[in-house]
Amino acid sequence: MSIRIVVAGNTPEVTRKWHERFVRATTAAQFIEWAEGQPPVDADYAIVWRPPGALFRQERRLKAAFNLGAGVDSVMRLPELPAELPVLRLEDAGMARQMAEYVLHGIAHVTRRFADYADLQQAGQWRQWPPVSYSEWPVGVMGLGAIGSQVAQAIVAAGYPTAGWSRSARHVDGVHAFGGPDQLGAFLERSRVLVNLLPLTPDTENILNRQNLKMLQSGGYVINVARGPHVVDEDLLALIDEGHLQGALLDVFRVEPLPADHPYWKHPKIRITPHVAAMTLEEETVRQVLRKIELLEQGRPVTGVVSRGRGY
Ligand SMILES: NC(=O)c1ccc[n+]([C@@H]2O[C@H](COP(=O)([O-])OP(=O)(O)OC[C@H]3O[C@@H](n4cnc5c(N)ncnc54)[C@H](OP(=O)(O)O)[C@@H]3O)[C@@H](O)[C@H]2O)c1
Repeated sequence: MSIRIVVAGNTPEVTRKWHERFVRATTAAQFIEWAEGQPPVDADYAIVWRPPGALFRQERRLKAAFNLGAGVDSVMRLPELPAELPVLRLEDAGMARQMAEYVLHGIAHVTRRFADYADLQQAGQWRQWPPVSYSEWPVGVMGLGAIGSQVAQAIVAAGYPTAGWSRSARHVDGVHAFGGPDQLGAFLERSRVLVNLLPLTPDTENILNRQNLKMLQSGGYVINVARGPHVVDEDLLALIDEGHLQGALLDVFRVEPLPADHPYWKHPKIRITPHVAAMTLEEETVRQVLRKIELLEQGRPVTGVVSRGRGY
């Protein structure tokens, strides 16, 4: 009997799109579009993107669930998720490169004064600022995982003094390693540009709050490409308005799409993008998920299994 795999997205369109991609990729498994209320299909695996919890109530024989993204917060918070079900996440799958490009753009925007040059252009003025002094722009990357470690390396290669903060003080070549809550203060104090690439867990929610952001060097800049609930929005806005921070580039928000009346839309020192910093690439994603299913079926080890204790 062939392997049965249920595909469940947050909308019927998303479900259909991913179902098609997987059907096109292989005939070695049977893919079923999941819909709430349908009879259980006794699937072996689930491939999900922000799935409804009902999926896990209905499908009781799953051997593993594959998340179609790097961040698993929308799955791990489901009360219906069985405690013993392995959840796997995407590891890079083409996202790290996009993320590095996005973050370097954000850093250069502030260090090379592109906003000032845009103003000068509007004013019809030809004026050159002094060259950037890289040593004056220490960058700190929070989260040195599959994506964060590659982003940190790209920042090192661009010439900025770079530090990284992770749970375990993970080593990345050329990156000054800080680890755990005890070293968070020292990490923030030496950073002027802060790049957030942490997973969203109970330990990291609201971590970009007033107390922590205040520790950044004066004239600091925040780039949040992880998850909206990492940032306490009022605190970030206040520190920008008080002049301690000179601005922020934000890709993710507590509510998405960002509500029309949110102050971020019109703030002159905040730039926003609609959760596009690193998009899931279909071909690489399908290949990675199918390869891991193959390994699991052979009883071989796989990487990218979420630790229930750590939440990422
Ligand atoms: N905006 C977008 O388009 C987009 C796209 C993709 C991903 N993302 C976000 O990026 C996040 C990171 O992805 P990834 O694949 O790099 O994740 P990952 O491989 O799971 O790495 C997570 C990193 O965060 C560190 N960390 C976790 N909890 C921590 C804590 N409490 N204190 C200190 N460090 C902690 C880990 O430390 P250890 O190394 O010690 O374990 C690790 O270095 C995702 O969770 C997702 O939210 C956003």
